[in-house]
Amino acid sequence: MFRLSAHADPAFLAEMLYEAVNWRDDGADERPSLDAVLSVPENARYIAEWGRPGDVALYALDRRDEPVGAAWLRLFTAEAPGYGYVADDVPELAIAVYPEFRGKRVGTLLLGSVIARAERDRARGISLSVNRDNPVKHLYARYGFEVVGEPGDALTMLLDVT
Ligand SMILES: CC(C)(COP(=O)(O)OP(=O)(O)OC[C@H]1O[C@@H](n2cnc3c(N)ncnc32)[C@H](O)[C@@H]1OP(=O)(O)O)[C@@H](O)C(=O)NCCC(=O)NCCS
Repeated sequence: MFRLSAHADPAFLAEMLYEAVNWRDDGADERPSLDAVLSVPENARYIAEWGRPGDVALYALDRRDEPVGAAWLRLFTAEAPGYGYVADDVPELAIAVYPEFRGKRVGTLLLGSVIARAERDRARGISLSVNRDNPVKHLYARYGFEVVGEPGDALTMLLDVT
């Protein structure tokens, strides 16, 4: 059983950012360090100075109340965009679950909940960037996200929540 919490913990978000960046968990490549991931400004900006207006994070807690996954929304600007940036007023989604907890519907719980939250907050939409090889793109499509850009090996997807 998992439950959701809105309690914000930037240190845990950093770990989830690490999992999202290293999404291809096939053991083929040695993983970079967390510091190496966070030293890339385009990565670090997903969590830097967490608590800005518009920041929303939902955490999935296991039965011991330990966080095992998170989905979070953040607004970006054209000057300092996220990988899935579409507009200043459209928050971008990041989501990850610890490898040992994947495939147990935690991600589905987080995604549905963060979409409901964006609807409640009257957001215009939610955007995201996903590698075209990442199977989670099918989950996004099931929730209504549509491909609006195909930069390099990524897909930019957008969900209209109006
Ligand atoms: C993507 C992720 C958050 C989904 O969380 P989850 O708890 O595993 O998801 P669910 O169990 O609800 O399953 C939803 C989808 O995730 C994918 N998934 C399921 N188990 C998985 C696993 N062990 N590894 C990778 N992806 C998995 C499947 O595409 C699944 O879709 P399906 O319903 O058609 O089978 C999680 O797999 C993860 O952290 N992946 C690495 C980070 C990442 O890719 N983040 C998104 C970057 S855009």
